[in-house]
Formats: sequence, C-alpha cells, structure tokens
Amino acid sequence: DLSVSWLGLTMANPLYNASGVMCRSVTELEQVRHSAAGAVISKSCTLQPRDGNPEPRYHATALGSINSMGLPNAGYAYYRDYARSYPYAQGKPLFLSISGMTLEDNLSMLADLASSALPCIPEVNLSCPNLPGKPQLGYDPDACAITLAEISRIYSGPFGVKLPPYFDPVHFSQMADLLNEFVGLRFVTCINSIGNGLVIDPDTESVVIKPKDGLGGLGGSYVLPTALANVREFARLLHGKHVVGCGGINSGREAFMHILAGATAVQIGTCLYEEGEGAFARILDELRALMLQKGYRCLDDFRGKLKTL
Ligand code: DHB
Repeated sequence: DLSVSWLGLTMANPLYNASGVMCRSVTELEQVRHSAAGAVISKSCTLQPRDGNPEPRYHATALGSINSMGLPNAGYAYYRDYARSYPYAQGKPLFLSISGMTLEDNLSMLADLASSALPCIPEVNLSCPNLPGKPQLGYDPDACAITLAEISRIYSGPFGVKLPPYFDPVHFSQMADLLNEFVGLRFVTCINSIGNGLVIDPDTESVVIKPKDGLGGLGGSYVLPTALANVREFARLLHGKHVVGCGGINSGREAFMHILAGATAVQIGTCLYEEGEGAFARILDELRALMLQKGYRCLDDFRGKLKTL
C-alpha cells in the first residue's frame, strides 16, 4: 500500500510532478493527471501571463539540469479555471503553485482562491531564483514573516510553501521557528532548485543557457544530498506540519531516501522533464519492489525513520 493521507486528502501514491515540469498548459496538466502520479501541481503562476526569459533556458546534463525559465505561465485565471473544472472526485488531488511578482499579487490570487472555495491546495512559492534583479524571498526571513502573516490574514484554508535550499543549521532553525508560528501553513516543499549555478560546455567554451549570462537553478542528481538535508532538518524542526520532498529523485531508491528522511510525499522535476510521464510508473514500481525486499508494507513503516550513527 503506497497511499498517503494528509491535509484531509488521500493520494494513491506519494509521487507527483515538481511545479514547473509538465504543468504549464492544460494539455500538460492533463498528461500528469492521466499518469500514475498520485497528485498534480500546476506551474507557478503570476497574476498576469508571462512569456519568461529568452531561450535557451533549460539544459540537461548527465547529472541533472540547469534552468532559468523566468516564470513563463498562462496567468492565475488560467490555472484557477483548470481548478474549477478539475475532477476532484476521481481521487487525485490538485495543488496550485502561486508565485506573485509582489506580495500584493500573491494576496490577490489567494483571496480569489479563498472566495472560490475550490478543493485545490496552494503551494506558495517563496523561492524562484530566476527573475533578474529579484532575490529569493526564502532567503529574507523578515520578508517571509510579513508574507506569511499577510497570507494567514486572508487565507484560512490549508496551504504550503515551496522553500529554497538552506545550507546552515542556523538558517534551518531560524526558518523553522518562523514557519511554526503559522497554523494554516500545513506543509513545506523542500527544495526548489539550487539557485544560480553555472554549467559550462568545455567544447563550445560557453555557457549553456541564455538568461543571466548562464546562471540558473540546478536540479537532478546535483541537488539530492542538499534536498535530503533540507527534508530531514525541516521534518525534525517543524511541529505538526508535513514536508514534501523534491530534488534528485530518479528512481525508487531516491524516493525511498526522501521518505526515510521524513517526506510525506515527493515531487519529480528533472527526471520527469527528461523521461516523460512514464517516470511515475517506473519509480513507483521500483519503490514497491524496494519495500517488498525490505518487508515494508506501507510508507509509515519507514517514513522519518532514518538512522544516525
Ligand atoms: C521558475 C523557477 C523556479 O525555481 C521557480 O520556483 C519558479 C519559476 C522559472 O524560472 O520559471
């Protein structure tokens, strides 16, 4: 049994797409919905539609990916309309990623979502690294505190936040203390891409993506240990909240590692982009086989039970 019950929802399994991958258009969202995924999340949206950064803006390597998409999306109303028509009764929960250019935009999208009373759940993105000149909110604790306080004022349903990776125990506890103050905040997704890496092609002696002179967010195998550290630390430090794992899942083994570190559910980004929606069924098969081999019958048998030495 791979099912997950949380936030008053049930997912048939813990896998879904990472926001940004296969979720910008209704066609893509429906691809995920019709796949073996346990849930669907939409592309981070802004109040107005955006074209995003100039191309090329995504590049895969043997170890992962670099991207600087720049928040191309069809605008909030498009994803809200998808959420209005979504067949919730079929048992595959829908999450909406919200990533306003300003706090006011976030509040206006969330206020509209609140008034729509739809059963989808917002994942508020505090960590887009790819907007030239705009720092990641998640690295500014004061700005996060204001954002979460304002959201909590206008949005009473369950919601989550997508966090950037942190790299210092002081930052883990500082963020966790802040997040613990907000009862409506029911989950954190760890991690967004490791921001502003640089991939270089020695043959062409060039960067591989155009925006920001080649700087972009790293995903895939590059980020797995950082993702696991963030999942494990937030799972330990947050009280009564879920952690969603994201980063470096290519097979059932990495999904297992994230859940062992404490993840309630896990998202697939780079691997889904590279392999297509068949990745869900494959990774699920591998996770099932690994659990059978270990004698685990459900995810609760090992979730958060990582050993230390
Ligand atoms: C984009 C990248 C992110 O990591 C994110 O959280 C939101 C948007 C982007 O470049 O489109």
